[in-house]
This record gives sequence, C-alpha cells and structure tokens, in this order.
Amino acid sequence: TYVVTDACIQCKFTDCVEVCPVDCFYEGENTLVIAPDECIDCGVCEPECPADAIIPDTESAAEKWIAFNGKYAALWPVIIEKKEPLENADDFVGVEGKLEKYFS
Ligand code: SF4
Ligand code: F3S
Repeated sequence: TYVVTDACIQCKFTDCVEVCPVDCFYEGENTLVIAPDECIDCGVCEPECPADAIIPDTESAAEKWIAFNGKYAALWPVIIEKKEPLENADDFVGVEGKLEKYFS
C-alpha cells in the first residue's frame, strides 16, 4: 500500500484523487490519507503529487505514516474528485514539521 505523509498538510493539491482507480483517498481539513485496506498498490498516484507526499509503505520514511493513514481513513469522508488546492499551497511545499505545526 501507499501512504500520504505530512508533505500533504496545508497543500492538498488533490491530483492524487483524480488518478486513483479505486477511490481510496479520504479527506481531512488540511490533508488527505489513503485507506490501507483499499489501496491496490498500483503506484499511479505517487508521481502525480506536486508535494511528493505519497510514498510506498516499504520505504523507511513511511513507517510513521502507516498508522496515521489507517486511523484517519476510518474517520474521514472519501474524496473522489479533484478540487482547488488549499490557499498558499505552493508556499507549504517542502516545509518541515507540518504535522506538529499545522495539522488540524
Ligand atoms: Fe490509489 Fe494506486 Fe495510489 Fe493506492 S497506489 S492510493 S490504489 S492510486
Ligand atoms: Fe496531498 Fe499530494 Fe494528493 S498534496 S492531496 S497527496 S496530490
């Protein structure tokens, strides 16, 4: 499965949503997550994210995001259509520590 990392926070470009064949993205206030039990591991979303927020769960950097994705996918509504990114999304690309500073 693939996971969304904190690179998505305050960006939410949603290009990922448009390409996912199984509609397994779920939407919070300022980030998305992937439902781990629905993702078919196709990988097509990974290169589409302008913030490079999506990585396979086999990467060591993914470790801390696996539970996060599972937890919030169960709580948030599904998102199946691309929408406008968050305001000033471009300014938040590559910013470190977004979970601690901005997650809501
Ligand atoms: Fe959807 Fe494929 Fe990305 Fe999984 S890897 S979230 S199935 S596009
Ligand atoms: Fe987030 Fe990237 Fe999708 S910023 S909404 S994971 S395209």
